Amino acid sequence: MRTKYKPWAKPFIEEHTEVMCPFDAINNYKNYYLEVGSGKGQFLVNMAKNHPDTFFIGMECNVTCAGFTAKKLVENEITNAKLVYAYAEQVLPLIDGGSVNGIFLNFSDPWPKKRHAKRRLTSDSFLNQYLRILKKGAKLIFKTDNYDLFTYSLELVQTSPFKLVEANYSYDGKDPFDETTEYEASFRAEGQPIYRLILEKL
Ligand SMILES: C[S@@+](CC[C@H](N)C(=O)[O-])C[C@H]1O[C@@H](n2cnc3c(N)ncnc32)[C@H](O)[C@@H]1O
Repeated sequence: MRTKYKPWAKPFIEEHTEVMCPFDAINNYKNYYLEVGSGKGQFLVNMAKNHPDTFFIGMECNVTCAGFTAKKLVENEITNAKLVYAYAEQVLPLIDGGSVNGIFLNFSDPWPKKRHAKRRLTSDSFLNQYLRILKKGAKLIFKTDNYDLFTYSLELVQTSPFKLVEANYSYDGKDPFDETTEYEASFRAEGQPIYRLILEKL
């Protein structure tokens, strides 16, 4: 599913600074949940709506996806979520250590070619950044339809300092602190299994 470029997206993001977080201002926020690769924003917006006392930050590098998310945040008058329009590689190293309440990775790009493995959002360098920024006892929750990415991630986790809390090969989507994403809805409609990993920073 490629997102068709929308020329309105960039001006919309630039105009609606109230829903955006500049990447170098992320440490102005504390005690938030982070979604890396938030796509068109359905998860971010619904989490924010259903958990009004909790703060969420989405991170997205694609301008059109970021535009769709910003639009949803504005239209739903969401005040407890912001969007960072940037590459995770650029922002994660800036985030204060031990400051994040939890991280969501939803249907991250699988990057199936071996030479692109470093770009996978569950590669060892990303896992190390997540470990650094999460609070003690906080969780990283990863959902995917992609079996190869799931098993690759599971293997890496087993040699990392993360504690593996759950490796679910048929996640039913019923966790009350979760929301269906755009990709998830289409995979579920096709009857594909959804895999989920829950990791804890000890
Ligand atoms: C397959 S889509 C899934 C979108 C959404 N999470 C969902 O489940 O519907 C992956 C998203 O992650 C974004 N993404 C991929 N690599 C990223 C990175 N390094 N930093 C920020 N966003 C990234 C892509 O632009 C894309 O919007």
